Amino acid sequence: MMRRKLVAGNWKMNGNRAALAELNGIAAAASANPAVDVAVAVPFTLIERAAERVPGLAIGAQDVHDADKGAHTGCTSAAQVREAGAVFTIVGHSERRGDQHETSHDAWAKSAAAHRNGLTVILCCGETEAERDAGRAERVVQAQVEKSLPDDADGSWLTLAYEPRWAIGTGRTPTMDEIASIHAIARAKMRQMIGDRADGVRILYGGSVTGDNAAAILSLDNVDGALVGGASLTATKFVPIITAAAAL
Ligand code: 13P
Repeated sequence: MMRRKLVAGNWKMNGNRAALAELNGIAAAASANPAVDVAVAVPFTLIERAAERVPGLAIGAQDVHDADKGAHTGCTSAAQVREAGAVFTIVGHSERRGDQHETSHDAWAKSAAAHRNGLTVILCCGETEAERDAGRAERVVQAQVEKSLPDDADGSWLTLAYEPRWAIGTGRTPTMDEIASIHAIARAKMRQMIGDRADGVRILYGGSVTGDNAAAILSLDNVDGALVGGASLTATKFVPIITAAAAL
């Protein structure tokens, strides 16, 4: 099955109003390469301005709460980010699993909240370095998918992202075989859970993706795009990843 490539940026806790100027170059590259979907998850504080500035670009959040509203000081709901102009959210990012002790069950509940509020979802999974060294990477990813993928998931609203935690922001990446193998395992696990609908779900790779390694990574089987941190912060670094995806 043909799945459109998705190149998604994650600005994490970076960026201010001045940084929004980068979105102009990114939006221009997105419209020049219509065969590729392009998205950027900005900090909550920038969602509204970003969505107004580049209406043609998919702007998203990096997290949402699993409740629609209520007494949850410091948290933000899916409905709130939707109203601000977000069309998608990341959930279960490894930095939230690590820093905020989020579990796969949390990621499951957040995915459901995002979906019922009209957002599409990039659901993250990925092993730590210790887990990989112990030979457990495959089992960890299978278990994360098992516990976080909603029963009604399909490619119209959900994308999976495999981000090995040790490859994030480190300049290190798994070998091409290792990436292809985890993506195949994630696809098989989804197929076990949601049947043929799994074939429509894109699986992104994330972790030190750059303009230099994007073409090789994006041409692997079952790699349907990239989730990009550091290299999404400027148009100069992000656009080559978009054009690499478009050239495949
Ligand atoms: P880097 O591209 O900076 O390694 O970050 C990847 C990531 O965590 C995207 O969500």
